[in-house]
Amino acid sequence: MHKNLGATVALYPTPVTIVGTEIDNRVNWINIAHIGIVGVDKMLISMNKVHYSNEGIKQNKTLSINIISEEMLIEADYVGMVSGARVNKEKVFRYFTGELKGAPLIENAPICMECEVVDNYETKTHDNFIVKPINTYVKQEVLNEKGQIDYTKVKPVLFEMPNRQYLSVGEVIGRCWKEGEKYKK
Ligand SMILES: Cc1cc2nc3c(=O)[nH]c(=O)nc-3n(C[C@H](O)[C@H](O)[C@H](O)COP(=O)(O)O)c2cc1C
Repeated sequence: MHKNLGATVALYPTPVTIVGTEIDNRVNWINIAHIGIVGVDKMLISMNKVHYSNEGIKQNKTLSINIISEEMLIEADYVGMVSGARVNKEKVFRYFTGELKGAPLIENAPICMECEVVDNYETKTHDNFIVKPINTYVKQEVLNEKGQIDYTKVKPVLFEMPNRQYLSVGEVIGRCWKEGEKYKK
């Protein structure tokens, strides 16, 4: 028997990302886990309008999305606890710049995407930025022999809201578009 928990957004776990911005020429970092894929070439990041980071995104129409690895958890959690409006978070991560202004990229992050903002699906409380990756910088050591990202090497951090916890990614348990073949037999 299922118990109905009512209107609950239960789509977890989601990956933890650090979104990099620049506000009045100062770098700022925010922890964002309410993210998604839109089509095959865009992403959505859902950001409460109270956050300081939103100002930079609106100023520059750019941002970075950095996938963190497990070793970065403490810094990642910290930038999700304090606001750049009160604390200078610039030095929490060492960073480099790519092609776009306003999209600082984290040196230690295994995957960094510099993105252009193409739309904002604004709701009463949230800016839901639709972004397009322009360049994706990936550490060599997380690429496989085919040049694809190996997520077992990335060790991304997952997040779930109901119990306020971080989780790690588990084992590879199957091949996509292959396992279903067994059903046909
Ligand atoms: C694990 C985690 C995930 C978070 N995900 C989001 C999110 O998806 N959207 C959001 O608006 N805030 C999210 N936050 C809250 C912001 O990261 C936090 O309020 C931050 O301090 C705001 O920084 P800023 O004011 O410098 O922009 C999250 C925080 C944590 C710790």
